[in-house]
Amino acid sequence: MGEAPGYDEDKQGEPFVGAAGQLLTKIIENGMGLRRDDVYILNTLKCRPPQNRTPEPAEVANCRGFFEQQLDILQPEYLVCLGAVAAQNLLETTVAVGRLRGKFHDYRGIKVLVTYHPAYLLRNPEEKRKTWDDIKLLLADMGLDPPKK
Ligand code: URA
Ligand code: URA
Repeated sequence: MGEAPGYDEDKQGEPFVGAAGQLLTKIIENGMGLRRDDVYILNTLKCRPPQNRTPEPAEVANCRGFFEQQLDILQPEYLVCLGAVAAQNLLETTVAVGRLRGKFHDYRGIKVLVTYHPAYLLRNPEEKRKTWDDIKLLLADMGLDPPKK
């Protein structure tokens, strides 16, 4: 689960199709050994905030019912929150990503893992190793081996 559609996502009506989406695809395919089609990708917000600014609390509140219904229908066993907006809104906390990551949380019986947002990783590539650690934790809990290089 990501934050909100950006420019490309707004145009195409699909989540994570821009630059951050390309990194997300790499994480799923090269990092996890899955196909993008194997996972369901959703955003916390359903509209792009003006100039991609951080969504206002009222905007998140307006979209909450939509992502809650998506999760009710999907009933995933695992959910990965990408970045602060997804993590803090889903888990209703103000704790930073750096302190939420690296362990599982619970949302209505779903195992929730928090990691950095791919757009944040594009700006801070030195943090990629921590996301890789989070992915390894996820794979281990799922009983999957990391893909062979
Ligand atoms: N960032 C997000 O959080 N979601 C998208 O769909 C694209 C970029
Ligand atoms: N802060 C954010 O907003 N997102 C991240 O991914 C990490 C820190």
